[in-house]
Amino acid sequence: MLFDLDLIKRVYDELPSKVLAARNLLKRPMTLAEKILYAHSFKPATRVFERGKDYVDFAPDRVAMQDATAQMALLQFDTCGRDRVAVPSTVHCDHLIQAKVGAEQDLSTAIDTNREVYDFLASISNKYGIGFWKPGAGIIHQVVLENYAFPGGMMIGTDSHTPNAGGLGMIAIGVGGADAVDVMAGLPWELKMPKLIGVKLTGKMSGWTSAKDIILWVAGQLTVKGGTGAIVEYFGEGADSLSCTGKATICNMGAEIGATCSLFAFDDKMAAYLSATGREEVATAANRVREHLRPDEEVYANPTKYYDQVLELNLAELEPYVNGPFTPDLATPISKMAEAVAAHGWPDEVEVALIGSCTNSSYEDISRSASIAAQAKAKDLKTASEFTITPGSEVVRYTIEKDGYLGTFDEIGGVVLANACGPCIGQWARHIDDPTRKNTIVTSFNRNFAKRNDGLASTHAFVASPEIVTAYAIAGRLSFNPLKDKLTNEKGEEVMLDEPKGFELPPRGFSVEDPGYQAPAASGVGVKVEVSPSSQRLQLLSPFPAWEGTDLTSLRLLIKVKGKCTTDHISMAGPWLKFRGHLDNISNNMLIGAVNFFNGQTDSVKNSLTGEYGPVPATQRQYKAKGIGTVVVGDENYGEGSSREHAAMEPRHLGVRVIVVKSFARIHETNLKKQGMLGLTFANKDDYDKILEDDLFDITGLTDFAPGKQLTMVLRHADGTSDKIKLNHTYNEQQIEWFKAGSALNLIRKQFGK
Ligand code: F3S
Repeated sequence: MLFDLDLIKRVYDELPSKVLAARNLLKRPMTLAEKILYAHSFKPATRVFERGKDYVDFAPDRVAMQDATAQMALLQFDTCGRDRVAVPSTVHCDHLIQAKVGAEQDLSTAIDTNREVYDFLASISNKYGIGFWKPGAGIIHQVVLENYAFPGGMMIGTDSHTPNAGGLGMIAIGVGGADAVDVMAGLPWELKMPKLIGVKLTGKMSGWTSAKDIILWVAGQLTVKGGTGAIVEYFGEGADSLSCTGKATICNMGAEIGATCSLFAFDDKMAAYLSATGREEVATAANRVREHLRPDEEVYANPTKYYDQVLELNLAELEPYVNGPFTPDLATPISKMAEAVAAHGWPDEVEVALIGSCTNSSYEDISRSASIAAQAKAKDLKTASEFTITPGSEVVRYTIEKDGYLGTFDEIGGVVLANACGPCIGQWARHIDDPTRKNTIVTSFNRNFAKRNDGLASTHAFVASPEIVTAYAIAGRLSFNPLKDKLTNEKGEEVMLDEPKGFELPPRGFSVEDPGYQAPAASGVGVKVEVSPSSQRLQLLSPFPAWEGTDLTSLRLLIKVKGKCTTDHISMAGPWLKFRGHLDNISNNMLIGAVNFFNGQTDSVKNSLTGEYGPVPATQRQYKAKGIGTVVVGDENYGEGSSREHAAMEPRHLGVRVIVVKSFARIHETNLKKQGMLGLTFANKDDYDKILEDDLFDITGLTDFAPGKQLTMVLRHADGTSDKIKLNHTYNEQQIEWFKAGSALNLIRKQFGK
């Protein structure tokens, strides 16, 4: 048994009293999201959390990490002094496998290329009690749905499509590695109390329409920003009619509207999926607290009273949608596609059709798509496009092979790729004659921003349901509407494709020979973490030094940043991704995208020791070598963009002591605090103008560092004059302890007596 039944039972045992306590606070009926959120408050809630305003500490039940983000998360966890993770956690090797030829060969190439990363992840997982899913086992979200997600639970995952688990009634939120470290270390996890969007689904789908079309429609309505800071809760008889995996598809793509996560209420479809995946006991336990795993009835009756926004969709009237190119919210109903293709000049030829991924590779998706593929042969049609199939997990792959579906795809020239992200995340060695040629691909994945799938700006990527994508693979034209258009077969006859048919769950059950799971050792004592000292991709971390107990004096200016400075400017992605597990190597990208106020250039700052200009990281390394601390000065909303912890760790690693800005993006500010860095703001924003290139800086007041109490920065200018300016901060008592200890993890290590 992979799932933690005791934990799930404990959650269910406590749920009724926790929901009752929350209802007493709120004094009104509750939505499902509210029930789960209040039940997972780190400390029992004593007041109502205001949506969209209050920051709340939560205690998630689980953590899931994919292999790209797990590296730095686990390197950090390794320094916190705990012997085991505080909550059940898993690592999934899915992002580093490149699709080139086909499943078997691509997997074996990936194992060779990424061996040191896989060995590290396997050994550190073994040491700290983390479940390890080997390369080829499947994509994180599918594996989580099949094994770990449970109604009413709360999890965080280091991947944006973590909300997939909402298909099983779980609040599942995508986060950065730093958040995963917090939860694994037993710290509270903070989130702004989300707003709630209700989507009422009435009627029942039929024919070519599938669950994917619901979220494609919702994306068109709400746009890519419409869900920001909100949980989307689906309800109504239409919601209960959807298969569990269909619900998961909808929740998965909630990420495309910026939603915190999406959620369905526990129902018979979820119970059936739990049972089909070997978790009857979870279904039984959930059934016992069913009323607490659904919104209160009054919420259904009066949704506008309880949700901040409500959408309504009649599934009986919904037609398939095709979204794109370049953005997932450009939603076109299939009946209008031919017109749209002509009007926008989108390339009509579909060059590659790709189905599967974490979003759409359920048994239902595959069996319905295979029913279309089978018609190609039966009706003497040939596939016009390249066609690939990415199973979401080995369980799915094995079962669909056993049930003959992979054979059906093979007969029409479909290529089965590894159970991994592959083309969905740009891990795709696509064969194309001219990479600059405007071209069209259609996928059943989730994201379709420029360059996402194949790295080519010329590729127009559209997103549709797997059954529609399969129809496109056969027709080869984006303007084709399988609901009404005919195709000419090899005999010159005109034929139509029949509606897809499939099974929500495998009639003969799921099966698998080797799911690809490696359980951790019962005790990690003596388990060695594998990192070669000469590795260029991985580096064990040393704890950051504790605060020396004095004010900081004679600091130098590293850079005064002008204008926008996102986490991408601070720690660029692209070619640097391969160094995500090696702090020293990735630090060579520190702030290289930021514009220097004094010369308007990027990656060119004055070394005040030599008077020469040089790259930011190299200059900082020279200061570090001489034991000189530095200051980074920033503009408004410094660190916006992502929760990338490298953006906070790199300056800390290279010896920057203080970041002083006009204002911070909140997540980055918290990340700086966690790493033991001083992140301060100008009390008077105009003081930004007083910072000169050759200044020496003193930060005073640190020995009395206290919540709400300003600090002072003395600017000693080169001409002998000086300015004294006030700095604000938002450190609470706990965060001041992090600063003093050198980092939040150092403090935990202390608590564990290490
Ligand atoms: Fe992987 Fe794409 Fe899903 S990158 S996790 S298959 S969204």
